[in-house]
Amino acid sequence: MIKGKKIILGVCGSIAAYKAAIFVRLLIKAEAGVRVIMTENAKSFISPLTLATLSKQKVRSSLYYPATGEWENHVALGEWGDAMVIMPTSANTLAKMASGAADNLLLTTYLSARCPVFFAPAMDHDMHEHPTTLRNIKTLTGFGNIHVKSNEGELASGLSGIGRLAEPEELIQVLINHFSRSLDLAGKKVLITSGPTHEKIDAVRYIANNSSGKMGAYLAQECANRGASVLFVSGPSRFMPVKSPNIKVFNVRSAVQMFDSSAQLFPKADISIFAAAVADYRVKGENPGKLKRNGSSRRIELEENPDIAASLSTKKEQHQITVGFALETENEAGNALIKLKQKNLDMIILNLLNNAESGFGHDTNQIKIIKDGAKDLDFGVKPKSLVAVDILDAILGLEHA
Ligand code: PMT
Repeated sequence: MIKGKKIILGVCGSIAAYKAAIFVRLLIKAEAGVRVIMTENAKSFISPLTLATLSKQKVRSSLYYPATGEWENHVALGEWGDAMVIMPTSANTLAKMASGAADNLLLTTYLSARCPVFFAPAMDHDMHEHPTTLRNIKTLTGFGNIHVKSNEGELASGLSGIGRLAEPEELIQVLINHFSRSLDLAGKKVLITSGPTHEKIDAVRYIANNSSGKMGAYLAQECANRGASVLFVSGPSRFMPVKSPNIKVFNVRSAVQMFDSSAQLFPKADISIFAAAVADYRVKGENPGKLKRNGSSRRIELEENPDIAASLSTKKEQHQITVGFALETENEAGNALIKLKQKNLDMIILNLLNNAESGFGHDTNQIKIIKDGAKDLDFGVKPKSLVAVDILDAILGLEHA
């Protein structure tokens, strides 16, 4: 599974950096290509020569070499990798990754990487459990990066607790799991609607909702990582999937535009996931200018928008799978099941709003997956990037997937 894969390995300053040598040896044994980037601090713990010899490649650590005038093309490096693994990730690098700092080659490559990024922290127990570190880990998983958790046990400080770097063999297994599932959508086209819609009131105002587009963007990223071609129809959203040759973005504004774009793309799609929070109503008529105050109340008449999921799903062919979301404030599971049937969906994802970390805007979500005639699947609160993994695993578990 790792054979032929291109791995960017980032090594930070930590006593656990010696494990990078074992990790590189295992990668090379598995016939992966490895490019090692070390921070300056990492060099105090392990020699670049060791990692260069084991990886059969020069080790990179500078953005710029003043003696020769050469520079390291971090963008090309970021594009080269099938995966980036940062092991050990020090508390310092973790904080910089979470804040977007770019003051060394490891960080600039991290920011440029289009591939999945795995980070394996290593530090003392108290540093690991500090609220800042925990917040930084949460931020990174919210970006879709994959956290390879630290182990518990004896630490270099002499203390005992959580903070030991995951063993190289565990990290190899994480990569094997990733790559073995990563191509299970190869050859499939997936249509995803995402984000809110904006329904124009007048020249400067609109009706909107709180969808950030995160859930849809993580679904698109996960599909692309697994080899699918993604047709991503997005309402106005600042949160977009990381650029990938596997994702084609169609920007729309209103529900009618989202409907038109999706209806054109739907016949090509093997799987359609309706994650957008589409406005059910739009303003009737046109107000080309800015509506002025007139000293009294004003009525705005609304007319119904098309139901994208229902209208496309009722036209689907036998090989096509359609999946919707449900956002309910009462009788959640009951109403979701009604929507599943009414909209002719194969599966519906219920956002459990009784959890404060779930639904609109959050980096996390808690879902229940409902299929007609099957036992509901319940999940705990997870980063939306991992919720996307659960949803796609469930879709692939459908009989006709
Ligand atoms: O974007 P985030 O901040 O990450 O939040 C994600 C989310 C909560 C928006 C997402 O997970 C979600 O639940 N999206 C659907 C929300 C919604 O509009 O639910 P609904 O119960 O009103 O609609 C049911 C289904 O019909 C949905 O799949 C919806 O996309 C679809 N629909 C609804 C109305 C309409 N006119 N057209 C549709 O396609």
